[in-house]
Amino acid sequence: MNEAAKKKLLQMIPHALYVLTAETDGKVAAATVSWVTQTSFKPPLIALGVKVDTHTFAVLNLSRTFVLNYLGDNQKDIAQKFFKHVEPEGNTLAGETFELSPQLKLPVFPNMAGYLECKVLEVAAHGDHATVVAEVLEAELGSADGPLKLESTGWSYGG
Ligand SMILES: Cc1cc2nc3c(=O)[nH]c(=O)nc-3n(C[C@H](O)[C@H](O)[C@H](O)COP(=O)(O)O)c2cc1C
Repeated sequence: MNEAAKKKLLQMIPHALYVLTAETDGKVAAATVSWVTQTSFKPPLIALGVKVDTHTFAVLNLSRTFVLNYLGDNQKDIAQKFFKHVEPEGNTLAGETFELSPQLKLPVFPNMAGYLECKVLEVAAHGDHATVVAEVLEAELGSADGPLKLESTGWSYGG
């Protein structure tokens, strides 16, 4: 394996940044994720990579539902808040006010660019991140312009 080429080419795959939220049995998860892509028109499917040794994966794997909140193009500061574990305080997560989504009743942030409510169809656990295949059940736009592109932040995740 040409490690340098592998790293460079994998990092060339374009990504945006999102705050994934999920809940099971009173346990809430909220984490910034980037490895997301669409995989079907009908039904609308997405696939994402979720780190298996996280609270977020433990919650998502049980709940089998989640929301993908799209960060706005100038919300890098918000993205940063969800790189570490956060717990809800009232109706806020990391100081960001949330509401509950219509179908799944999961945290959504109206000041972001929008959200997708998703149902997990399959979890393929083959590496340090599991590949989660999910169907989009509902979608709503928010007040911010999106997306927040990973390449615009100076951060990298991949390789
Ligand atoms: C730039 C960047 C992108 C990230 N993308 C992902 C991702 O796609 N999937 C993932 O599981 N974690 C990703 N992470 C790590 C999560 O943000 C982190 O594991 C999570 O916030 C842990 O929270 P928890 O302990 O509450 O689950 C990323 C981190 C950074 C810095």
